[in-house]
Amino acid sequence: MLNKQGFNLWANDYDKTVQVSEENNLYPFAGYKDILDFIFNEAMQKNHSAVLDIGFGTGILASKLYEHGHYINGVDFSSEMIEIAKGKMPLANLIEWDITYGLPERLKAKNYESIISTYALHHLTDEEKKRFVQELLPLLAEGGKIYVGDISFQTRADLENCRNASINYWDEDEFYFVFEEIESALKGIAKCKFYPFSHCGGVIVISK
Ligand SMILES: C[S@@+](CC[C@H](N)C(=O)[O-])C[C@H]1O[C@@H](n2cnc3c(N)ncnc32)[C@H](O)[C@@H]1O
Repeated sequence: MLNKQGFNLWANDYDKTVQVSEENNLYPFAGYKDILDFIFNEAMQKNHSAVLDIGFGTGILASKLYEHGHYINGVDFSSEMIEIAKGKMPLANLIEWDITYGLPERLKAKNYESIISTYALHHLTDEEKKRFVQELLPLLAEGGKIYVGDISFQTRADLENCRNASINYWDEDEFYFVFEEIESALKGIAKCKFYPFSHCGGVIVISK
């Protein structure tokens, strides 16, 4: 699993790496464009909304929403990623922060129509994911939703199939979403829906 320095070194080549994996329909980024498009279209259902992007990276998704007049807030722990994202969204509220410590207080003082996160939350363990979602839920505005686009599977068996097929380059240090497991962990806390877009990626929509 990459640490902050690893993401700093990756920042300039990040968009290209994603494109190659996506275009070849390979783990880890197969379905990436469809996943981002789905979240973009969902967030676009509201005008000039407040959006919180967790682990925005080079800002591929957030900058599209920014260009359409949405108010972008975000956290990422890589200063190099933030520099690239800032170039695309000079007026966005982008904070350097490690989400293993939860969210910074400044971001907890607001409400958001959409909380989005793509390919970042798999760096948290399943227990950390649950705690983090519990921290995010009270920040949703009326009718707001959390959209998690990431490497994700309906069942643990689906994950294992993908792992076996991609064993030479599978990252054993990351914690991919198994929808059935996260849905069960959040039972009674939040509603969850899963929209798969490839053999290894999809969007989990979480609401109160
Ligand atoms: C694979 S990139 C995804 C970037 C972007 N959301 C996208 O879909 O292209 C993961 C991002 O999450 C950030 N990240 C990973 N772990 C993090 C952590 N613990 N706290 C904050 N950001 C983190 C990395 O710096 C990186 O920018």
